[in-house]
Amino acid sequence: MAQPTKMNPKSQGSGGREVWGTRLGFVLAAVGSAVGLGNMWRFSYVASEGGGAAFLILYVALIALIGIPLMLAEFSVGRRTHLSPIGAIRQVAGSRWVPLGVLYVLTGFLVLSYYAVIAGWTLRYSLDGILGGFAGDPGVYFESVATGWDAIAYHLVFMTITIGIVMNGVQRGIERAALILMPILFLILLGLAVWAATLPGAREGYAFYLQPSLAELMDPAVLTGAAGQAFFSLSLGMGAMLTFASYLSRDSDLNQEAVTVSLSDFLVAFIAGLVVFPVIAALGLQDQVGESAVGALFISLPGAFEAMGGIGRIVGILFFVALAVGALTSALSLLEVVTSSIIDELRISRRKAALGLGVLIAAVGIIPALSLDALGLMDAIAGELFLVIGAFGMAIVVGWVMPNVAGEMKRGASPAFERYVPGVVFLVRYVLPVVIGIVLWFSILETIENVQAFFVG
Ligand code: PFF
Repeated sequence: MAQPTKMNPKSQGSGGREVWGTRLGFVLAAVGSAVGLGNMWRFSYVASEGGGAAFLILYVALIALIGIPLMLAEFSVGRRTHLSPIGAIRQVAGSRWVPLGVLYVLTGFLVLSYYAVIAGWTLRYSLDGILGGFAGDPGVYFESVATGWDAIAYHLVFMTITIGIVMNGVQRGIERAALILMPILFLILLGLAVWAATLPGAREGYAFYLQPSLAELMDPAVLTGAAGQAFFSLSLGMGAMLTFASYLSRDSDLNQEAVTVSLSDFLVAFIAGLVVFPVIAALGLQDQVGESAVGALFISLPGAFEAMGGIGRIVGILFFVALAVGALTSALSLLEVVTSSIIDELRISRRKAALGLGVLIAAVGIIPALSLDALGLMDAIAGELFLVIGAFGMAIVVGWVMPNVAGEMKRGASPAFERYVPGVVFLVRYVLPVVIGIVLWFSILETIENVQAFFVG
């Protein structure tokens, strides 16, 4: 049997299903799925609002206790079945659970449709930075590019790139893109963090970002927000990690991969904050950040870059390119969830499935490209509520329905990790359903409020 660390010259496994070419390729593709707009757009904002350093500790604890076990659960289902979400859930839990698989596909479809709109903004900002800088009032600029024809155009460009890569398959499309793009993203981000440390506002920025405050942690909304952020950021609760693991060989070490992917995702989010806040503090824009996550990233930051002159422009371009790259590798996984399910269920070719579904998603994305309210509503429903329902379902299926979960998790694990498997199974069975159940309750209440606000105006 081929070692997972070696190049796999064939792109197909024994059953005719594609496999990853290298272990690094899989890890980078999974990190690519996890690292995206969620890390750079939402994390630093949620952290600074949620209690700074105290929030970070809560977040790391959530990743360790909920995120990694849930990721392992998804990996186990994918690697055992070698099927995409619908077929995989059917195989491990029976036909009664198929709706859960369908929910994953629907969530991927909806999340990508609005995610690609925001990604389109990052493309637009990168290009405008290169062509002429971020001149003018950043608020007015944002309004002019965020919705309408411009937004639709950039959204469609982004979707075209995504579809083109996914059409090429797992090894030649997604894996190759991850191997090229992820190192670029890491390098840019590290470079930016080092540069940001030299800014006059660096100290103040770090203090604003990390000032520990315990009061916020007592607020249940902060807790459930942190959990929701963790699921979204780790790409959990919608079958993305399940799908990627379905292209793994049977002997890969799931435990190690889950820890690597989760830690990398957290580190990128943390470092993004180390870039964002010094820049904002250097220009005394802290007060603007409290207004919205969109505001922090797409209005305050370009304003700050512009005010810094030539160097600000270069740094700004790099920042938005890094965002676009992160968004692209995440979008690949979203389209892959939908595409692979349709390939498996309807037995049509990858090219047709990726193209047909991609076009449909792009068409639905025109709605959030025309209205920020619609975008916000889709994020609240698909990007939060559906994700939490999906995570809850996964915990129940893996904890209570799927046979021999411990055996699956132990397969390929090093002896050091094997010892932790019973603990992980305990967490999936007993702790995850309770914690995710609480988060789900708050998500339902919040979604009702959001829907009411949307229709009442
Ligand atoms: N994890 C991505 C981010 O943080 O931006 C978003 C995402 C991608 C969520 C893929 C879910 C998913 F399946």
